[in-house]
Order: sequence, then C-alpha cells, then structure tokens
Amino acid sequence: MEDIKCCVVSCEKPLDASYWEAQYQSKSIGWDLGDISPPIKKYIDTLENKESAILIPGCGNTYEAEYLLKKGFTNITVIDVAPTLVAELIKKFSNNSNITILLGDFFEHQGKYDLIIEQTFFCALPPTMRQKYVWKMHQLLADKGILAGLLFNRRFEINPPFGGDKTEYEMLFKASFDFLQMDICLDSVAPRSNSELFIEFKKNNQVNVNLYTMSGITCSDCANTITEKFLTISKIVNVSMNSNFTSVLICSRNEVAIDTLRELISYDEKYRIEK
Ligand SMILES: C[S@@+](CC[C@H](N)C(=O)[O-])C[C@H]1O[C@@H](n2cnc3c(N)ncnc32)[C@H](O)[C@@H]1O
Repeated sequence: MEDIKCCVVSCEKPLDASYWEAQYQSKSIGWDLGDISPPIKKYIDTLENKESAILIPGCGNTYEAEYLLKKGFTNITVIDVAPTLVAELIKKFSNNSNITILLGDFFEHQGKYDLIIEQTFFCALPPTMRQKYVWKMHQLLADKGILAGLLFNRRFEINPPFGGDKTEYEMLFKASFDFLQMDICLDSVAPRSNSELFIEFKKNNQVNVNLYTMSGITCSDCANTITEKFLTISKIVNVSMNSNFTSVLICSRNEVAIDTLRELISYDEKYRIEK
C-alpha cells in the first residue's frame, strides 16, 4: 500500500528531459557510482566479440562505455536525454570512432543491438513505462540479442529510483525474453548490497511483442478481468498491463488482430484499445 501511494505521487512528477537536465546542471547525481558497477564489469569481462553492437540507454556518465572501450570494444552507442551531460560526454570521448554519443529519448531511438546494458535506467523511469521499456528493448535487440545489467530488488520511499522485485520482473519480461540469469548480486557496491539482481535476458524471436494503449479502465479488478480475457486467446503467451491501466504489453506466438482484442473487451463500451 505504501508503495502504491508513493508511486502515484511520484509518477505525477514529470521525469522528462528537463527534470534530468536540472539534475545534471545542479550536480544532484546521487545515483552516479563514479566507476563501473562490479557486476557489470565482471559480465563485460566474459564477452568475447569485440565488434558486438552495444547500446547503453540512460547512460549518465557511462563508466560502462569507458570500460568497454578500454577492453577494445568497437561498436558502442550511448544515449541520454540530458543535454549538459551529453555535451560533457562528447568532449570526454572526442575523436573516438568506437563510440557514438546520442542526445535523445531512448523510446524514439531506432537501431539493432546485440547487447543492451541496463544500469539504473529502468529504475529512473516512471513505473507506468515498464511495459513500454520491455517492448522497446525487444524491438531494439537483434535476433538472440541480450539485455544485461542490474535491476533493484527492493522498494524505495522516495522516487526515483523506482524499485521492484523478481516476481514483478518475471511477470513483465515473461515470454518476450528467455531468462538466462536473474540472481541476487553478491558483488554489488556497498550501498546497494543485497538489493540488486543481475539480469541476463535473451530476446525471444519466436514471439510478437506489441504495445497497445488502453482507456476506460479504472481499477485493478477490471484490469485483471481484461488480462484474463486476453489470455483466453491460445496464441497469447503473456499479458502485462501497466500500473495506471493505460497500456498493455501483449506477447503472442502469432499476430493477434486488433478486432479480436476489441471483441473481448466489448462487454463494456468504456473500454478502448489501440495499437
Ligand atoms: C538514474 S540516472 C542513471 C545514469 C547512469 N546509467 C548511471 O547509472 O550513472 C538515469 C539516466 O537516464 C536518463 N534518462 C531518463 N529518461 C530517459 C529517456 N527517455 N531516454 C534516454 N535517457 C533517459 C537520465 O538523463 C539519466 O542520465
């Protein structure tokens, strides 16, 4: 209950480019570790193909990219919405053709990557965007692409960051990704000790992952009923609705016609679904 209250309050705060820009301008970057996180460093040390296309979204000061460059990786892209930060990164990595630095919104970004590294980006987004995050990650990954990094395994009273737990992540990423790893980290930095999961998720190419906008749903009972109805379609393998019932992620073995979904929610004329 406490979490729901705190999430609703915080979600009203627009966590947009201006918000993040203000954090960098005022140097209020409490999340910044000043170095690469040990579990991510360890993971990078296992990677063999130095030409893999690697994306780091919500990159911040991107110690991960710095480490990748040091290890000889040649195809790194980092993206962030905060102009002050990105100007600094452009200076810092100037003349290095192995890294592309982009100012922009991850959700608008187009590309194909073998690996996407998650480091305190997911937890910086309003929880209502989690379904969109899964959809976008699935889109940006190449066949057999990997999403790897850290997710919090705890809640926070003040947000961002927005936390979560293993069960929630399983429900969210289920079927869109195969879970290669999702374990408590034993080598997190001290302030995050016992509160991070290391994830390594492989894109499931066998499914379609679609994001729909929804309207007319006002309570979790209705959301659950609709979710159950969608799951009666045998080719649908996962349905995840966001926490304010405005979008739904549907993962299916084959494309599902929008009219089929509309028919299932037509018992209440308030309900609308759009792709
Ligand atoms: C909590 S910080 C983490 C930064 C960095 N990953 C780290 O761990 O130090 C979240 C970052 O995501 C960026 N960000 C937030 N929303 C974004 C979006 N939609 N697209 C790209 N970057 C975004 C912010 O500007 C910020 O740099």
